[in-house]
This record gives sequence, structure tokens and C-alpha cells, in this order.
Amino acid sequence: MQTLTVELADRSYPINIGAGLLRQESLLQAAVLARDILLVSNTTVAPLYADAVRQSLGDRRIIDVILPDGEQHKSLATAGRVFDVLIANRFGRDALVLALGGGVVGDLAGFVAACYQRGIDYVQVPTTLLAQVDSSVGGKTAVNHPGGKNLIGAFHQPREVFADTDVLATLPDSELSAGLAEIIKYGLLADRSFFEWLEANMPALRRRDPQALAHAIYRSCQIKAQIVERDEREQGERALLNLGHTFGHAIEAATGYVEWLHGEAVGVGLLLAASMSQRLGALSAADVRRVAALLERAGLRTSAPQIGAATAADYMRIDKKVQGGRVRLVLLTHLGEAYITGDYADAALRSTLQEYFGA
Ligand code: NAD
Ligand code: GLY
Repeated sequence: MQTLTVELADRSYPINIGAGLLRQESLLQAAVLARDILLVSNTTVAPLYADAVRQSLGDRRIIDVILPDGEQHKSLATAGRVFDVLIANRFGRDALVLALGGGVVGDLAGFVAACYQRGIDYVQVPTTLLAQVDSSVGGKTAVNHPGGKNLIGAFHQPREVFADTDVLATLPDSELSAGLAEIIKYGLLADRSFFEWLEANMPALRRRDPQALAHAIYRSCQIKAQIVERDEREQGERALLNLGHTFGHAIEAATGYVEWLHGEAVGVGLLLAASMSQRLGALSAADVRRVAALLERAGLRTSAPQIGAATAADYMRIDKKVQGGRVRLVLLTHLGEAYITGDYADAALRSTLQEYFGA
């Protein structure tokens, strides 16, 4: 097991990464001291892993809330159901919420923990690759509103994160690839040598080699942790983590959030960010080809739906990243370094959108 710490003064917490963490009975018992635990999971993940978690926790009062599976259930109505269970069982401020699942369960359970009695502790046991490298770390919690994704939420850091690489064995291939897109994002935005390591180790990651996965998760969490430590509430630098997301958001929104997984859309978004950076003179054509090749080898798409550049631009404008009427973008200075800007040549954006989304 490897452990790294997110250093946030009295809200610091460890992220534990490795194979078989959920089977190590003493691990969760030692980390989780609460007597009352609300285990939040969903109908896909709970039958696979809830027993192992219960066993690891030992003798406590553990109440389960098993949610239906799907992003559409990351809602205030579902959060309301979870509050009902906490209240019906008279859980106090010393109770703990344990999120067992992907980003949907983690975001919702974290949101409930942030609000219940003005904030109680929670622990993340992420079970998708995306959740292990992104959503379980950094304390963004939220539910969706019909008016937009993640519109209702809070910053509330978990007490501890347990990323067991063994649980990834049951993850569908497409979900594994979606997580790989976020991992490629970290290499592109912060660490060229990690990007090169991914180029060399993509076959091992696709075969779910535990050591390769553990390294990729560790380095990704380390990069995210360092950024969150400097800018917990996204006043500036944390927005670097949105590399590829504003372009990806246009794909997700235009296709009704059902045809494309978030990570798949981010993958194509990374390619658009690289391509626009080339137009601005920062990257070479060979760099852009390397990004495309790595995405392909990760099992991701490299072409966008043909919705037209104007429609794509409209969707980008209704994303949360507009400031002073201009869409702020995360672009690359080179492979391994990114910057945030609203100050770019419109022609470069227009021609990038035309190339990928059609005229
Ligand atoms: P998800 O939670 O919907 O999980 C994807 C699918 O995999 C689901 O069907 C789930 O039941 C299933 N699953 C989970 N673990 C499994 C396992 N081990 N074996 C088999 N099936 C398994 O999707 P996700 O990609 O994990 O998360 C997406 C959510 O995360 C979105 O709501 C997004 O907004 C949020 N998110 C939040 C942050 C953040 O910083 N808080 C960052 C990125 C994404
Ligand atoms: N997923 C981006 C962030 O946590 O800031």
C-alpha cells in the first residue's frame, strides 16, 4: 500500500492506494473510529463490495443506503432520501458517512455529509478509476439540478480515501478508459515524464496490471493534491484540472449526457486543447499526434460528434467557465504544462472547433 497526504492544515487527510485494501480488516477499523456509520452505495457496487467493507469495519452500527445506479440519481431528491435515513436512525454529529462507489455515489454522499447537522465526517472508498484519480480527492461534493450539473454543492474534504485497485477488476472497459482520460490529463497538464510513462505503460494499464494502476493512481492523486493544497476553492490554479473539460462539456451537453461518458468527452477535449495550442504556436503537429495516439491506445475516441462549430461554441458558453463574456480555456504551453486564459485569438478557437465539430 502507498499513502500520500493532502496537506490542508486541520483538514489534511491520507489517500491510501493499493491492491486488496478492502480485504485488510485492520485497515478500515483503525482508520474509522465512528460507532455509527452510514454506508452509501448503489445497486451495482453494493452486491460486489459492501460485504467486504462491512467486514473490514468490524462491530459497529452500519446502516446501508443503496441507491439506484446512474447520474440521474445524483439529485436533491436522492440526497433527501439519504437525510431521511440519517434522521430516522438518530445519527448524531459523531456519525460517519462512507461512500462506496464511483463519482456519482461519492459526490452525493459527500454532499450529504457536508450538510447533515452542518457537516459530519465522511470517508471515500472510490470504485471507478475516475473516482480513484479525481472525484474522491479534493473535497468537491455536489448534486445536479435540472438547470445544470453539480450546481448545488459544497467544498467538504473527506477524512480518508481508500483506493483499492482490486475493485477495478469488475469495471467495464469503457469506464476504465474514461478514468484513463483523466490520468492522461494529469500528465498533459503537469508532468511530461508521467505522460511518457503512460505512453510506455498503456498496455499494462489496459490489462489492469495492479502495479501499473497503483502508480498511475498515485501520481494522478499527487498532482491533484498539490494543486488542491494551493487552491482548495478554485480561486485560480485549480481550474487547470479542467483541461479538456470545456471542450468535453460541449460534447456531453450536445449529446444529452447519455451517449458519451464524461471521461470519453474529456479525452476528445484534451485533443482539442492540444490542437488549439498548436494553432497558437505552442505545440508541434507531432505533439498533437502523440496525444491522439495515446488516447486511442487508452481505448478512447479521437473524433467529436458533427454538431457544427457554432453549436459547439454555444455549448461552451453555457459551461461554468465564462468570465466577462469570454470562455476561459485551459491550454498547453508544451506537453506537461498548462495555463488558464481568456486571452486567445478567436480565429484559433474557431478553426479548432471547425476541424473537430464540422463547419
Ligand atoms: P459512476 O459513479 O456513474 O460510475 C460509473 C459506472 O460504474 C456506474 O454504473 C457504477 O455503478 C459502476 N461501477 C462503479 N464501480 C464499479 C466497479 N468496481 N465494478 C463495476 N461497476 C462499477 O461514474 P464515475 O465516472 O465514477 O463518476 C462520474 C461522476 O463524478 C459525475 O457525476 C461527475 O460529475 C463526478 N465528478 C466529480 C468530481 C469531483 O471533483 N467531485 C470530479 C470528476 C467527476
Ligand atoms: N475535477 C476538478 C476538480 O476537482 O477541481
